[in-house]
Amino acid sequence: MGRAYKMKGQKRKKKEEKYDKGEEFEQFEENVTPQPPKKVKTDDAASDKEEKLEPVTDELPGIPIVTVDTNTNKPGVIFILEKASLEIAKVGKTYQLLSSDEHANYLVRNKRNPADYRPDIAFQAIQTILDSRVNKCGRLKALYVRTQQGLLLHIKPHARMPRTYKRFSGLMVQLLQKLHITAAGKGEKLLRVIKNPVTQYLPINCRKIGFSHSSEKLVDMYEYVGTINNELDLVFVVGAMAHGKIDEDYVEDYLSSKLISIANIYFT
Ligand SMILES: C[S@@+](CC[C@H](N)C(=O)[O-])C[C@H]1O[C@@H](n2cnc3c(N)ncnc32)[C@H](O)[C@@H]1O
Repeated sequence: MGRAYKMKGQKRKKKEEKYDKGEEFEQFEENVTPQPPKKVKTDDAASDKEEKLEPVTDELPGIPIVTVDTNTNKPGVIFILEKASLEIAKVGKTYQLLSSDEHANYLVRNKRNPADYRPDIAFQAIQTILDSRVNKCGRLKALYVRTQQGLLLHIKPHARMPRTYKRFSGLMVQLLQKLHITAAGKGEKLLRVIKNPVTQYLPINCRKIGFSHSSEKLVDMYEYVGTINNELDLVFVVGAMAHGKIDEDYVEDYLSSKLISIANIYFT
């Protein structure tokens, strides 16, 4: 039997890009299997079953009612969650967000360590940051999440994320397949998969502060923030993983915090 040869001049099919088409994005290597479906849906193809997000309009006890105002000219805060465990795979007939709680057998069968699959950490961190005083007073400028696979997610501060883990995981499956999530009843994209590196979205005048339990610089965050030039935007980089530590080149200073409720520091 003859061996099949490629026809001369036949080009390799270009790899499908996995990012929201509304923004330029670099091709990243896929080093995990199984993969989400190759086909990227467009807005037109979006189904009725899609999760929709609502802008935040509610209030937290003890603070004034604020509508999140991302257009404030005052310096603000940007959060980057690194090493978030947000990976989807086809388990049975459906794509699911892999977690040690739900997919231990699947992960072991696929030679993965279930302890590394903790999407609940990212879920809680995102919730805390969006519910924080920093956000309620309009000083949260952006929230970025980098997954362990190197995907970069952008979450707008006024996005209301699902309150339950089950709905959050459904939303993440949808985001990682469709590459964006729009606001309910509006065309605004509240969550997007965007192009790396995250540094291209950071303001020029900002201080990039990383958090690590193992840093020798133990600080009281309230005092530390008070020492920083209050005209600078602050970028807080926090690990969203269960084990290990973050070690990002763009971070200027690593701190170990006595009190890790960074997101609830009130900037006046
Ligand atoms: C579950 S912890 C990972 C623990 C890890 N063993 C470590 O040394 O940071 C996830 C993230 O929380 C943050 N974190 C937890 N405790 C902290 C502390 N006391 N000071 C600063 N950051 C902390 C770090 O950003 C860390 O990457």
